[in-house]
Amino acid sequence: AAAGMRDSHGRQIDYLRISVTDRCDLRCRYCMSETMQFLPRREILTLEEIAIIAERFIARGVRRIRLSGGEPLVRRDFADLARALGRHVKSGRLDELTLTTNGTQLARHADMLFDAGIRRINVSLDALDPAIFADITRGGDLPALLAGLEAARAAGLKLKINMVALRGVNEDQVLPLLDFCETHGHDLTLIETMPLGDVADDRADHFLPLIEAIAPIRARHDLVPLSERTGGPARYFALSGLRTRLGLITPLSENFCAGCNRMRLTCQGRIYMCLGHEDHVDLKAAFRADGVAGIDALLDQALAAKPAAHDFSVSRGASPSTRRHMSVTGG
Ligand code: GTP
Ligand code: 5AD
Ligand code: SF4
Repeated sequence: AAAGMRDSHGRQIDYLRISVTDRCDLRCRYCMSETMQFLPRREILTLEEIAIIAERFIARGVRRIRLSGGEPLVRRDFADLARALGRHVKSGRLDELTLTTNGTQLARHADMLFDAGIRRINVSLDALDPAIFADITRGGDLPALLAGLEAARAAGLKLKINMVALRGVNEDQVLPLLDFCETHGHDLTLIETMPLGDVADDRADHFLPLIEAIAPIRARHDLVPLSERTGGPARYFALSGLRTRLGLITPLSENFCAGCNRMRLTCQGRIYMCLGHEDHVDLKAAFRADGVAGIDALLDQALAAKPAAHDFSVSRGASPSTRRHMSVTGG
């Protein structure tokens, strides 16, 4: 256990993302179709199963866990899982427990998250303009999200805003979002849209390389590369004159797979070794048949099979690289 986990490419795997539900109260255009079919409940891991499986990953060397979805805060009794995993942070077995959320339910949960041991969260916010926000999320509640951000800040959580850059949709929102983050003391991460899951839009129409998305920022600020990393794929920059740090996640225009440190546990109990590949192992079946011993054997198998890199590409009319939706895998 002390040696931790290594894949066949020599990468140390010490970061686990867990999608706790595929359900969401929004329908972001780049993530879901309007008529998204969710998984039947019996296929979903129970929260107790997630906690036991996560504990086994920790025993095998995982040092950071990020909870995501779908929208994690719509899962009933999510607080129980946050507390169960948070105990590992408090005991020093985990370095960090984090959350990625759409923010709409955040106001109710902010204090609970902090008490559980979570110290920073990432919140998806792709536009501040109400009409653009409503278009992207298909009717999402922007005031609820903004109230959630405020409650989270008041609860002591460090916030990072995730913005998926979409050509012709929200490119004019980059500066307003940066300004908003500067005012409220948040960091900002821009993300290139990845071809996962069947959505109504053609992704090629909206793909925006971040080098273009950040042009208006560069016109106003110097970008100074920061050496610090969060364990995620973002490269961070200080911006002259601002406190907000800018993160860039460029899976398409600048591949970062060589530094990959992660595995993904989906809400239906599969392990995906890469966001951009279909191969996976069925941990739920193994765990339900053989308990914790079943986890170990499959983990070894998954580590050996972890691919070197994703094979995403965005071209016009192409079907998605994987048909599986982001909400199932957890991003
Ligand atoms: P921190 O660095 O810990 O703040 O988190 P993060 O940026 O890794 O997590 P978050 O859930 O906020 O994800 C931001 C974006 O990065 C999402 O679009 C994810 O799908 C994407 N992402 C995270 N990990 C990977 C990865 O290993 N490969 C790819 N291609 N994308 C990733
Ligand atoms: N490409 C890039 N990022 C995506 N997200 C959801 N779908 C995609 C996609 N197709 C983002 C969400 C959230 C994070 C978990 O992933 O906006 O911030
Ligand atoms: Fe929900 Fe997140 Fe997908 Fe938007 S991107 S529909 S908030 S899971």
